[in-house]
Amino acid sequence: MEKLTMEKLVAYCKQYGIIYQGSEVYGGLANTWDYGPIGSRLKNNVKDAWRKRFIQENKNSFEVDAAILMHPKVWEASGHTKNFSDPLIDCKECKMRHRADNLIESFNKDAHPDLMTDEEMMKYIRDNKIPCPKCGKSNYTDIREFGLMFETHRGVIKGEDNGLIYLRPETAQGEFVNFLNVQRTMRAKIPFGIAQIGKAFRNEITPGNFTFRTIEFEQMEHQLFCKEGTDTEYYKYYKEYAMNMLKDLGINTDKLRFRDHEKLAHYAKAACDIEYLFPMGWGELWGTHNRTNYDLSNHQEYSKTSFEYLDPEDNSKYIPYVVESSVGCDRFTLMVLCDAYDEEILEDGTTREVMHFHPFLAPYKLAILPLVKKYHSDYAKELKEKLQKSFMCSYDETGSIGKRYRRQDAIGTPFCITIDNDTLEKGTVTIRNRDTMEQITLPVDEIEKYISDKIKF
Ligand code: GAP
Repeated sequence: MEKLTMEKLVAYCKQYGIIYQGSEVYGGLANTWDYGPIGSRLKNNVKDAWRKRFIQENKNSFEVDAAILMHPKVWEASGHTKNFSDPLIDCKECKMRHRADNLIESFNKDAHPDLMTDEEMMKYIRDNKIPCPKCGKSNYTDIREFGLMFETHRGVIKGEDNGLIYLRPETAQGEFVNFLNVQRTMRAKIPFGIAQIGKAFRNEITPGNFTFRTIEFEQMEHQLFCKEGTDTEYYKYYKEYAMNMLKDLGINTDKLRFRDHEKLAHYAKAACDIEYLFPMGWGELWGTHNRTNYDLSNHQEYSKTSFEYLDPEDNSKYIPYVVESSVGCDRFTLMVLCDAYDEEILEDGTTREVMHFHPFLAPYKLAILPLVKKYHSDYAKELKEKLQKSFMCSYDETGSIGKRYRRQDAIGTPFCITIDNDTLEKGTVTIRNRDTMEQITLPVDEIEKYISDKIKF
C-alpha cells in the first residue's frame, strides 16, 4: 500500500462523508472540523466502545455529564490558571509562532525539552541555532508562557457584568467536583470510578495534523478513586486496561507503544502515554496518570468542603487518591481511521480502498443490496426495515454490484447482503465479508444472529 499521508486522509474523509472542514462555505475556520454522517456514526461507536469498557464492564464506575462552564475557582484549585500554559516563541523574521519544546524536539528527538526550564530551552535553541521550520533563519523572541484556557464573560448585557469564566480545558474537574455527590447518591464505596465524555477547549498555539490537535475536542476520562497505597497497583492496571481495549479493537500492535513521562504534570506522581504511529510520526493517544490526592485536597481547600471519605472497612478517614485514564475521542477516532485504511491490489489488477474497522466501530453494520432493482428492491426494502431495528443498515440499489461493494468497502461496512432470485424462491441471501471478500449463503431468519455475533466487542 502507498503510504497514507494526512493530506490523503483529509481528502478521503471529505469524499466519503466522514469529516469536513468546519464552516467550509465561509472559507473554513482553521483547525475546526465537522463530522459528517459516516464520521458521526464512527465517533459515536468509539464512545460506545469506551463506555462499554470503562462504565458497563468496569467493576464500580458511574457516568456523569457535567457543565462545560464551571465556577472560576475550580481552575484555581486545579492549578490551571497558574500552570496551564505552553512555551511560546516567535520567529522575528517570518513571524511564525512555535512551541519552543516542539522546535527542540523536531531538531533533536533525544533532547528532552520536557525536562528543561524555559531558560534552558531558550539557551538550547540559541546554542544550536535551531532554524525556523518556515523561513530557515534562527532569530527568535524570548519564550513567553501562553495560557491555554479559552476565556469568556458572563452577563446578559455586554460589558455590564465582566465575570470571567473559562471553557473547561479538561473534563476531569467535572468528575472531581462531583465526587461527594456521586459517592453519597450512589452509596459508592472506594474503590469506585467517575467517568464522562464531553467537550474540552484549549487555545493551542500549534493546532494541526487534522483532528490530532484542535482547539475544541472531546475527551473520554475515567477517574478511579482509591486509598493511598493501592494507587500504584491501579495505575498499572489502567495502563494495561486501556492497551487491551485497543488490542481488542484490532488496532495494529506494531503501531502502539507505552511512553513513561519523565517530567510530570503539576498534579502527577506517575504518568504514561500510549502512543500511536500516526502518518506524521508517533503521537500521544491516551494518558494514564496517578494524580495522588492533589485534586480533591485542593477542592477541599478552595471550596471549604470536606472531601474526606470515611472508610467502612477500617473506619479510617482520608482524601482518596485518583488514577486517571484520559483519551481524546477525536484523536481516538483519527487513530481508528489511520489504522483501518488500506489500499489493496486485487487479482484483476484493480485497487480497492477499504476501511477495515472492527465491526463494532463500523458506521454501518451491513448494507442491503438488491441484485436487480426491478425484481428485488421491494423485498430488500422490507428486509431493511426489519433489520434496522437492530443495526445501522445501509441500502444501495444503484450501479453494478461490484461498484456497490466498493462504496461499502470505502466506508468500512463489514457485511453486504445481496437479495436475488434465491431470496425470493428459497429464502436465502448471500453475505459478503468486507475483509476476505468471501461470500456465504444464509437463510434470511439467521441474518440477525449472524451479524450480532460478528459485531461483538
Ligand atoms: N485530564 C487530563 C488531561 O486532560 P491531557 O494529556 O492534556 O490530559 C488527555 O489530555 C487526552 O486528550 C490526550 O491524550 C489526547 O488524546 C486528548 N487531547 C489533548 N489535547 C487535545 C487537543 N488539543 N486536540 C485533540 N485532542 C486532545
